[in-house]
Amino acid sequence: MEFPGAYADRGVFVCFEGGEGGGKSTQARLLAERLEAAGHRVLLTREPGGTEVGQRLRDIVLSPETGDLADRTEVLLYAADKAEHVETVVLPALARGEVVITDRYVDSTLAYQGAGRGLGTTGVEQVARWATGDLRPHLTVLLDLPPADGLGRFEGRDRIEGQGLEFHERVRESFRDLAAADPDHYLVLDARGAVEEIAAAIHDRLAPLLEGAT
Ligand code: TMP
Repeated sequence: MEFPGAYADRGVFVCFEGGEGGGKSTQARLLAERLEAAGHRVLLTREPGGTEVGQRLRDIVLSPETGDLADRTEVLLYAADKAEHVETVVLPALARGEVVITDRYVDSTLAYQGAGRGLGTTGVEQVARWATGDLRPHLTVLLDLPPADGLGRFEGRDRIEGQGLEFHERVRESFRDLAAADPDHYLVLDARGAVEEIAAAIHDRLAPLLEGAT
């Protein structure tokens, strides 16, 4: 599969990003259902875990049983998940002209590993862009939430959720900085809003991008 090296010229690529407990998965599903009902062909997927090998990588990288990992190992595991996901799932669906909705993508690596783990963005971004052939989302929806609100919802915490509040504060700031630097490709919403209102705002922002899409 050929990489477009920026924005795909067929299909529409939408990402949901944000910290823990912000309702990304719910909003991604609601959007997929709404677009399908309107006759679009939609692929709803996620990172990590959008492929079979990705599911295994997800287990390794999130399971508390894994214990400590070198930060760079963590980057490479997430990057491997992305490489497999983009080449075998995302790009083929875009080439078929579909709307691809992914729950997390490259920004999560920049925010969690770059800012959260403190590796900085430069090297982490090179790895993540290389893994994804620099495929960029047409729109990233950032569901923004103070970490204390989102983390409160979790009982059994995985390797990432179990990081301290300061880690998650750095993650949040990083997401917000990424969005602020490229407003044409981001929609930032307060995740504490009503589910239906958030869903409507996402749909409204996406509508112009869907004109002409299948
Ligand atoms: P999820 O449970 O929202 O699907 O996300 C899985 C966890 O993995 C979440 O805590 C964020 C984290 N993550 C990273 O640290 N780096 C990444 O590149 C991705 C995609 C997720």
